[in-house]
Amino acid sequence: MANGRRTHQAKALPYGGYHQTWVGQNDAELTRVGPGTLCGEVLRRYWQPVAMSQELGDLPRLLRILGEDLVVFRDKGGRLGLVHRRCPHRRASLEYGVCEDRGIRCCYHGWRFDVDGRLLEVPGQPAGVEARMKETVALGAYPTLEVKGLIFAYLGPPEEKPAFPIYDTMEIPDQVMTPYKAPFACNWLQVLDAIVDPIHTSFLHARISRQQFSEGFGALGEIKFYERPSGYLGTFTRRVGDHVWVRTNELVLPNFTQAGAAFAADGTRARYFGRTAFSRWVVPVDDESTVCYAWANFGERGDPPEWNTWEGPQLIEQGELFERPYEERQRFPADLEATEGMGRISEHEKENLVPSDKGIVLYRKRLRELCRATEKGKRPAQPTDHWPGPVPTYGGDTVLRLPPNGSDDAAYLQRIGQAVMEAQFEAEGLTGAARDEAVIVRLKRIEAEGIGE
Ligand code: FES
Ligand SMILES: [Fe+2]
Repeated sequence: MANGRRTHQAKALPYGGYHQTWVGQNDAELTRVGPGTLCGEVLRRYWQPVAMSQELGDLPRLLRILGEDLVVFRDKGGRLGLVHRRCPHRRASLEYGVCEDRGIRCCYHGWRFDVDGRLLEVPGQPAGVEARMKETVALGAYPTLEVKGLIFAYLGPPEEKPAFPIYDTMEIPDQVMTPYKAPFACNWLQVLDAIVDPIHTSFLHARISRQQFSEGFGALGEIKFYERPSGYLGTFTRRVGDHVWVRTNELVLPNFTQAGAAFAADGTRARYFGRTAFSRWVVPVDDESTVCYAWANFGERGDPPEWNTWEGPQLIEQGELFERPYEERQRFPADLEATEGMGRISEHEKENLVPSDKGIVLYRKRLRELCRATEKGKRPAQPTDHWPGPVPTYGGDTVLRLPPNGSDDAAYLQRIGQAVMEAQFEAEGLTGAARDEAVIVRLKRIEAEGIGE
């Protein structure tokens, strides 16, 4: 290394700033997302949310995703188009195009393109030019889908387009799913990390800042990570008085995340197989910015419907509003401050990881394997590969009344956390009400009978 000041021993020196001024590398394999990059290729193999339906009116809308400048529009026939920003004629931007009955017309010379990018019209040219252009030129376009107020797109090779995954949390009866988006001015990996970092909720969201979610978040507990066919789970089992609260966060690779409730569970009242507060994708805009598109989930199984307000999804996402005065952000930091504060792309080489970071180490390793396999031409596994029906997920809370039993409480909490997760794993072949019932019966049995030594 050219910089001689970079030594392991120097890290622990008092007043050793001089020895730590070297610039650390970021994790280039996982942080680069543009076309042709390793991780960019993986992310392009999955459906990604790119906009909210409510953001799209009668005008085309410019957006950036995975380092690509795109335009999303709805033609007057109601069909959605997601196309490259620049017209293949002489590169005018289609954000200034006109939405027509069928397709979009470029503002500069009036070429018209269908939602799939095919050239429909080349006005004002001699005979034969239009036909020739139609054969050789198309606007870059991607398939889209609109689901519950979110617009999804698939940016990968057309022949590899996967089925859109339906997660079980999208089919909970009477649940209201409110779309929201959360922008972050930093690389996607540092935003994604937080989902498999359960312990940060006790510090950032409770002890350090103000109590941003429900009571009980400040309690520390026992952490365990699980690997499932389609992703990672981090459980955090806390004691809150006579109750034991098992909260599960999850990551379905590469970037779908769910967590427990923000307000419905506080560790003081029993809750059996409560489901996630948000169903959320961490989507890279480019290497230095990110946007989370999500649904905030309200109802008996999610967060209370009274939080379904303008502020509610922001508070569920990170415990604070997104836009705040600087001083307030300093006094009461939330995820935005923690992640953006790392810089546009964190210097991963300068991290010092500890046991509670195990989830991060595990998922980054698996993501890296996915990148390398994809580079070799292997098709990355889709969540739908493992399940014929809705994909079972686990993000949520279970709170059981189980007073301390006199033995080592940490070991007791670990056993309860394990039993609560096993109850869910054993029922994952079931769907809908049958699965809920099977899980809840088992959880109530744990509560009634306790856990042996
Ligand atoms: S630049 Fe688009 S039609 Fe000419
Ligand atoms: Fe957080």
